Amino acid sequence: MLRDASSLANPQETRVTHLDWKVTVDFTASALIGRATYTLDRVDPDATTLCLDTSRLEILTVVDQNDDSLSFALESPGGDSVAHSHLGQRLVIRIAPATTSVAIDYRTTPASSACQWLPPAQTSGGVFPYLYTQAQAIHARSLIPCQDMPGVKFTYGATVTVPAWATPVMSAILKTTSRAHPDDSQHGSSKIYTFEQTVPISAYLLALAVGQLEKRDLSPRCAVWSEPSVVEAAAYEFAQTEEFLTMAEDLAGTPYVWGRYDLLCLCASSPYGGMENPCITFVTPTLLAGDRSLADVVAHEIAHSWTGNLVTNATWDHFWLNEGWTTWFQRKIMSRIHHDDHEQLLDLDAIGGYQALQDACSREMPLAYQKLVLDIGDGDPDEAYSSIAYEKGFHLLRALERRVGTSAFEAFFQSYVQKYAYQTLTSDDFRDFFTTYFEDNEAIRDFDWETWFYEPGMPPEDPPFDRTLAEHSAQLAQVWLAVDRHGRMLPTTSIADWTSLQTTCFLDALLLQTNHNSVPPKDPLKVSTIRALQKAYRLADSRNSEILFRFCMLAVAAEDETILPTVVRFITTQGRMKFTRPLYRTLFASVMGRDLAVQVFLGHKEFYHPICAKMVASDLLLSSSSSNSGVWATMRNTISLGKSWMWAVGGAAVAVGMGITIARHRRR
Ligand code: BES
Ligand code: ZN
Repeated sequence: MLRDASSLANPQETRVTHLDWKVTVDFTASALIGRATYTLDRVDPDATTLCLDTSRLEILTVVDQNDDSLSFALESPGGDSVAHSHLGQRLVIRIAPATTSVAIDYRTTPASSACQWLPPAQTSGGVFPYLYTQAQAIHARSLIPCQDMPGVKFTYGATVTVPAWATPVMSAILKTTSRAHPDDSQHGSSKIYTFEQTVPISAYLLALAVGQLEKRDLSPRCAVWSEPSVVEAAAYEFAQTEEFLTMAEDLAGTPYVWGRYDLLCLCASSPYGGMENPCITFVTPTLLAGDRSLADVVAHEIAHSWTGNLVTNATWDHFWLNEGWTTWFQRKIMSRIHHDDHEQLLDLDAIGGYQALQDACSREMPLAYQKLVLDIGDGDPDEAYSSIAYEKGFHLLRALERRVGTSAFEAFFQSYVQKYAYQTLTSDDFRDFFTTYFEDNEAIRDFDWETWFYEPGMPPEDPPFDRTLAEHSAQLAQVWLAVDRHGRMLPTTSIADWTSLQTTCFLDALLLQTNHNSVPPKDPLKVSTIRALQKAYRLADSRNSEILFRFCMLAVAAEDETILPTVVRFITTQGRMKFTRPLYRTLFASVMGRDLAVQVFLGHKEFYHPICAKMVASDLLLSSSSSNSGVWATMRNTISLGKSWMWAVGGAAVAVGMGITIARHRRR
């Protein structure tokens, strides 16, 4: 088995095959109090230990299948007693030849990086607290002791005790719900739910959310969950879920194996657009544009039901096998559904992705993270995360598709899914399978795998995009640039009937031309142009978060102070890293917003999920490198308070208190 440098576990010797998870969700203590019972495969019968990953957990006792205690120790990779910042500590359990299962009593601590415990004020209901977890890439170990590497797959059952007002959801199928019964503790009455995941999953797909949740059915196998005040909007936004799922099954050629496909529309702080937790994708409420225009994220997470959850990257170095394939698959689903000319729509979306790739390559990213096949070593996978895996991976697949032809490549995709379902694979496994499959095909003989896999930066081939649907966007961007650079007449073109993809494509073209990525931006638009854009198209009032985000980026680069309240509101009322991190970074790089960025972040860091808080702290140079022991260790505490930030933050604090509803109204 491949060694995984992101894990301290020992599956080569002793491997877990099933988890029985009993867990009590204690909102008062902000802790999960649990017992994890693992069934073991004694791969090496002579091995005397089971090693599990842990991070910021308190281990209480360990027993075997006969309830006899087993000795255990927590070891740090550095050999001292200090836990590694992202790898954590190895839980070493001594096992006897006859040990077939171990049960670990443990509890999480408030520092657990997978969990966000939200106070009522941070929910849309405002009455009850809320918990949700985000385990990918290596945060599962802060949720439960586990073999936290994609190469180990196991089934699981869970028994979850929650307060009677709450409903839990998990990356599994709900089996039973007990009636509320009085608890003898001071915590009031509680309820017990049981779940089962019979398809083996990697630890990063463990997920739990608990809150005041309601659901709306979308189809016999699909439903939307969220807090009550959001559920109607979410059901409207994600109404096409079943249609996406059916199309995905058709393209994959293998039926959907996970039983249900539900969506949980999370609280505003959720750090990702979507997370493909099996049976229930978690999505950000920033997708609630009101017109279904951001539902491609759902198609993406549905696609992971095959590429990622069924066919899984062997280690995080091969992350592109999850995300590159999923991006390819998502674009196939969306273009089949929405446009007669599949390739045109696929390319409109891909053009935006290509720009994200250029952004990632032009930022100061370590070269090891600009390769398609990553070299993470003991680095933090959260730091290695970027568009590279998605977009360079997508283009590698498209380059192969161009050589062998679309129908042959789509047929290959089906064979690939069939061959690797329930397994994990490396980039080399993929290359070998592809080259064997197309053995007789001359067109792939000279394919430069080495460059594609291991050269940092942009892909070796320029993609021949079909730019038909991007044409209007590009033209209008040129007109606005002429306004900005040469004082030409303002255009009269209306974009009212454009799709939101066309609008984001237009804004992307402006961002590209103004070199917004260099620090400071090289050729920003003039403030007068920003104001004219706002007057013409009301972009700062858009309900579409992708549009709002891009306009904010342009306006901050232009040093337009009138955008500051909008930006501060945007980054303090949602915590999706795709928007929040670049906005903090660009604010920090601006003259008008450098101190503001730091102050807003320090004032709101509790609002963000711990993963987002960690990354923004690093972007704002508030933490030393992630390999250091404490993210907050070198956090700056005293920064001069400028006048402008005080009112801006004051406004934002009100918005946060009132939750997402406010964000949605204001953005209209
Ligand atoms: N699995 C990812 C999210 C993720 C990646 C979480 C790595 C933690 C570590 C998810 O499928 C994803 O890619 N989400 C995107 C959606 C987009 C590409 C359509 C997102 O969050 O924006
Ligand atoms: Zn993904």
